[in-house]
Amino acid sequence: MHSYRVAVIGAGYVGLTTAACLASLGHRVTCGEVDAAKVERLRRADVRILEPGLPELVAEGLAAGRLDFVVGAAAATADAEVVFLCVPTPMGEGGTADLTAVEAVLTEVRDHLPAGCVLVNKSTVPVGTAERTAALLGRDDVAVVSNPEFLREGSGVRDFLNPDRIVVGSRSRAAAERVSALYAGLGAPTVLTDAASAEMVKYAANCFLAMKLSYVNSLAELCERLGADIGDVTEGMGRDNRIGPSFLDPGPGWGGSCLPKDTNALMRVAEAAGFDFGILRSVIAANDRQADRVADKVAEAVGGSVAGVRIGLLGLTFKAGTNDLRDSPALAVAGVLHARGADLVGYDPGLLALDQPEAHDLLAAAGILTLVDDVLDVAKDAAALVVLTEWPEFRGLDWHRVADALAGRVVVDGRNHLDPDALAKAGIAWRGLGHRHAQQSLTAPA
Ligand code: UDX
Repeated sequence: MHSYRVAVIGAGYVGLTTAACLASLGHRVTCGEVDAAKVERLRRADVRILEPGLPELVAEGLAAGRLDFVVGAAAATADAEVVFLCVPTPMGEGGTADLTAVEAVLTEVRDHLPAGCVLVNKSTVPVGTAERTAALLGRDDVAVVSNPEFLREGSGVRDFLNPDRIVVGSRSRAAAERVSALYAGLGAPTVLTDAASAEMVKYAANCFLAMKLSYVNSLAELCERLGADIGDVTEGMGRDNRIGPSFLDPGPGWGGSCLPKDTNALMRVAEAAGFDFGILRSVIAANDRQADRVADKVAEAVGGSVAGVRIGLLGLTFKAGTNDLRDSPALAVAGVLHARGADLVGYDPGLLALDQPEAHDLLAAAGILTLVDDVLDVAKDAAALVVLTEWPEFRGLDWHRVADALAGRVVVDGRNHLDPDALAKAGIAWRGLGHRHAQQSLTAPA
């Protein structure tokens, strides 16, 4: 496979994964990042993102001389054949994607990009951004390509190296082919298209996943009312090949750094195009109700009101396997319980694993709960425990010890994650989402 000289701008979650994985495929990668302290750390392979395999790949790339980190975008692009833009596109005013970081990088690199190089947008950007990028760049000798990423946090390296598909879009066929050649070693099916369609694929996929989850969460609520069991229903549905078993687990709502941002952005894009995307509006509205729904279940479990009641929260990150609190549904539920007067204590395995001032600052700023670093401390004197993130270790807890610490022996399982029988053996009542027994009150043995 041909080895390319690649620049990656941005050493965040997507940029760092892209840089380390491309280096592991044999390309020579320079990663440009504005944060000088981060560059220093990365040069020592000190990775602060909780992502399996990433620290090892960064260390290997550095040792092999195929990966380097520099301060700034222009410095990284000096002799690049392909330049990846991996800077944040957060939710801006009114739900549109905020392209400030993309524009700042374009301004910085415009006069430095080598002639004939290809500029690739990996960040999720509104349909039409590739065209706008080309106009902003104003360089006929640099082609612009859209190559969206489909990396899940917590399995980003695996997703990068074992993709379901690669999507590459550009007006220039030669540029698109150069970008797909970077991934030649992966043997993945490749969709070559125009830039607008490639940009659309990313939104279309993420909004579809959000739709699946809103559908399942709504279905869970209906199951409860009808005495059906969502676990059996989703198993029966998921075995249909046209539907598939993934993204069918009910929860406290979808969140994280992508789904909320992308659903809102596509809504705005549709509005701007004069299209009433009613189905997507309902998907978002259903998710907005989900935190209240879980909070209602907690209130019911503790006798009607959470005001002045101590509640222990198991899991705060937006999903298991990350230390990311951005748009975490767990924090949305915590916010609702706090607003209703609950006294909240929280525990999350992902927030112990690393020294992460950002997460602790975010929690302190929210000021809605006290973070503890032991499961028994979160259970101590609590009227109920609430599972909000599906950390595997929660399944194996010593429920007898947890029961001894609890004031009220009930667990509201906002992820349908625990084994109700294991809890019952310890005298703890289990209440999940969408189960035929969800409304049944289990009395703890004396
Ligand atoms: C997502 C997309 O999957 C990925 O392709 C895209 O590039 C970025 O956004 P990520 O945000 O890491 O990845 O999370 P993902 O694993 O997709 O989960 C999204 C949300 O759905 C989380 O809040 C998760 O807890 C929730 N979820 C997922 C459920 O509630 N139930 C499920 O069955 C699956």
